[in-house]
Amino acid sequence: MTPDRFAFLAAAGGAAPSLHNSQPWRFRASDDGLGLLVYRDPSRAIPVTDPMGRALHVSIGAALLNVRVAAASLGLETRLRLLPDPGQPDLIAALGFDQPLPGSRPGSDAELYPAIAARHSSRQPFTNRDVPERLVGELMVAADQEGAVLTMLEESETRRVLALTADAERRTAADVAREAETRSWVRLEAPAADGIPAEALGPLDRDARVPMRSFTGHPPVGVPASARFEPLPQLATFTTAHDDHSAWVRTGMALERVWLIATVNDLRGSVLHQAVEWPDTRWQLRDPETGPGYVQIILRLGYGPPGAASPRRPVTDILQLP
Ligand SMILES: Cc1cc2nc3c(=O)[nH]c(=O)nc-3n(C[C@H](O)[C@H](O)[C@H](O)COP(=O)(O)O)c2cc1C
Repeated sequence: MTPDRFAFLAAAGGAAPSLHNSQPWRFRASDDGLGLLVYRDPSRAIPVTDPMGRALHVSIGAALLNVRVAAASLGLETRLRLLPDPGQPDLIAALGFDQPLPGSRPGSDAELYPAIAARHSSRQPFTNRDVPERLVGELMVAADQEGAVLTMLEESETRRVLALTADAERRTAADVAREAETRSWVRLEAPAADGIPAEALGPLDRDARVPMRSFTGHPPVGVPASARFEPLPQLATFTTAHDDHSAWVRTGMALERVWLIATVNDLRGSVLHQAVEWPDTRWQLRDPETGPGYVQIILRLGYGPPGAASPRRPVTDILQLP
């Protein structure tokens, strides 16, 4: 492993989605210079909206998946140890890299590498075109590979989840501390290395069917005029059997694997997270039909314009070399 390779891997990790583009991760080359350690960065937590650090761990999981994909693009196999040291709670993962054995078949993860830079949250209205069954199947397998269950919601479940999301968005609107915290991550004027820039914000739904998060308050400021969204959005929930740090990190890996495959297939996505942020709406998100499980994140998928890129911190700020 060379400094260039570590920088390449950290840049890929840093391109992952994160709550409010907080980028709550740090990467460090291991002392022997052979592996990469991935830490959470508590100084980048979002404590009012995410008091348990659940979204923070999901974000780091997404970064880990990107590192694995980037390593695959270098022809390396990754050994991943999640939460390897109970004495170091900030250490989320230790990754080791191996040359594949001669004659072994290369994995397909390398093909996902270009999607890391091409993937952006698209907060625009999507068309009515359905995600093909074949692709839904592929996304379910991808989530399962990382330890999460992806469910594409049927119409009645979609309407129920949209109502819960709208309810959560209304409560957030009435919560001064949450509104202020969210607003503090929006960068309308000066360019910045984190947070959400004006170009990445989207309109709100004129018909109030798709409750997009209003990042700039209620009523919103500095965002495009409202627009008509797809009447029945295509929502995928990610569910895990447990609700601990490991499940959250695995959800992030599943989210990013699914989102990269979607990107390769010209499918766009944006997260609808509000209902997961309030304990009671989160509890009600559980589908009574499919049995127990914790809903960790909701991804709206569809065809439409790509989202704008959001900035990232420079690699020198997030990577420590030996
Ligand atoms: C745990 C989590 C929750 C998120 N919640 C929302 C949300 O409620 N609404 C939204 O529009 N984007 C949400 N996002 C997307 C982030 O805002 C986005 O990933 C970040 O701003 C970086 O932009 P990018 O995805 O275009 O790279 C969430 C992302 C994560 C990982």
